[in-house]
Amino acid sequence: MTLRAVVRGVGHYLPARVMPNAEFEATLDTTDDWIRARTGIERRHIAAEGETTSDLAVAAAEAALTDAGLRATDIDALIVATSTADFTFPSAATMVQARLGMTGGFAFDVQAVCAGFVFALAQANALIVSGAARRVMVIGSETFSRLMDWTDRSTCVLFGDGAGALILEAGEGSGTPADRGVLAFDLHSDGRFKDILHVDGGVSTGTTGHLRMQGKEVFRHAVEKLAETAHAALDKAGLSGADVDWIVPHQANLRIISATAQRMQVPMERVVVTVQDHGNTSAASIPLALSVGRDRGQIRPGDLIVTEAIGGGLAWGAVVLRW
Ligand code: ACO
Repeated sequence: MTLRAVVRGVGHYLPARVMPNAEFEATLDTTDDWIRARTGIERRHIAAEGETTSDLAVAAAEAALTDAGLRATDIDALIVATSTADFTFPSAATMVQARLGMTGGFAFDVQAVCAGFVFALAQANALIVSGAARRVMVIGSETFSRLMDWTDRSTCVLFGDGAGALILEAGEGSGTPADRGVLAFDLHSDGRFKDILHVDGGVSTGTTGHLRMQGKEVFRHAVEKLAETAHAALDKAGLSGADVDWIVPHQANLRIISATAQRMQVPMERVVVTVQDHGNTSAASIPLALSVGRDRGQIRPGDLIVTEAIGGGLAWGAVVLRW
C-alpha cells in the first residue's frame, strides 16, 4: 500500500471588478491589440479597495470546502502560496485559518512567487505521505494589482488578482502511475537571477515596492525551464508527454504556454488556458485554472495532469497528479 495525496475538492474566487485591456488605452501608450497579440490576455480581475489577499483566499477556501463536502475543522493543515500577504506577519494562512473557524491543526505561507502553488502542493504531498497530516488545503491567493507601477506599460498590463484552493487527503494507492493523487514533483530555484524579476520594496526599504521585470529575459528562461521541469516530473512518475490528459500551466503568457506545450509534444487542445480572462495571478493561477478547468468539464476524475510554473527567484517546478 502506498499513501497518496488525493484531490478531494477544488474552488476559486475572483474579485467582482473586471478590467478589460481597453481601459489601459486611456492612461498608457498601449493598445488592446498589442496586449492580446503579445500575451493572450484580454481582461483581468482587480480586487476592490480594502479587499485583501486573505479575503480572496477565504472565499476560495469556502468554495473548496463546499465542493469537498467538508468543514474547516476537518482540515489538518492549511498552506497559502502568496507573495502578497496582507501583512509582513502574521502569515496569510493563519489569518485564513482563523476566519474559516479552523481551530486545530497548523497553517503557514509558502513564498515562491509565481511558482508558489507548485511548491506548496509538493509540501502538502510531503505532509500527507509522511503521515503528518491527513487533509491539507492548499490555497494560491494574490493581489498583484497592489504591486504594480501603473505607469509602467511593460508590467501593469500583465497581472490580475484572484485565488484558488485545492483540498488533498490521504488515500491508498498501489504505488503505480495508475494511482489517483500526486505522483511526482520536480522543484528548482536559482537565486542568481534575482534581478530579472523582483519587487523593489520590503522590510529593507520600508515600502511595499513595485514589480520590476526584464520581460524578454524572463520569457527566455520560462520557455527553456518549464518544459525541462515538466519532463523531469513525468520521468520521476514513470510517464511521458503522451500520457498527459491536461497541462495546467502557470498562466503568464499564451506564447509561453504554447511554446512549453509544443516542447512537451502535447497539443493545445490538452492545455487548460485561462490567461485570457485572468491575466497572470501569480501563485493563484494554477489552482484557479484547475477549478475553472474542472467547472468547464475539461478535467475529470482519473485524468493525468501536469502543472508547471516559474517565477521570481527564479523558482520553478512541476507536479504530476492524477485527478
Ligand atoms: N504596449 C505597447 N508596447 C509595449 C508594451 C505595452 N503594454 N509593453 C512593452 N512594450 C514595448 C516595449 O517598450 C518595446 O518597445 P521598443 O522596441 O520601442 O523598446 C516593444 O514593446 C517590444 O518589447 P519586448 O519586451 O521586446 O516585447 P516582447 O515581445 O518580449 O513582449 C512581454 C513583452 C509580453 C512582457 C514578454 O516579454 C513576456 O511575456 N515576458 C514574460 C514575462 C512574464 O510573463 N512575466 C510574468 C512573471 S514571471 C512568470 O509568471 C513566468
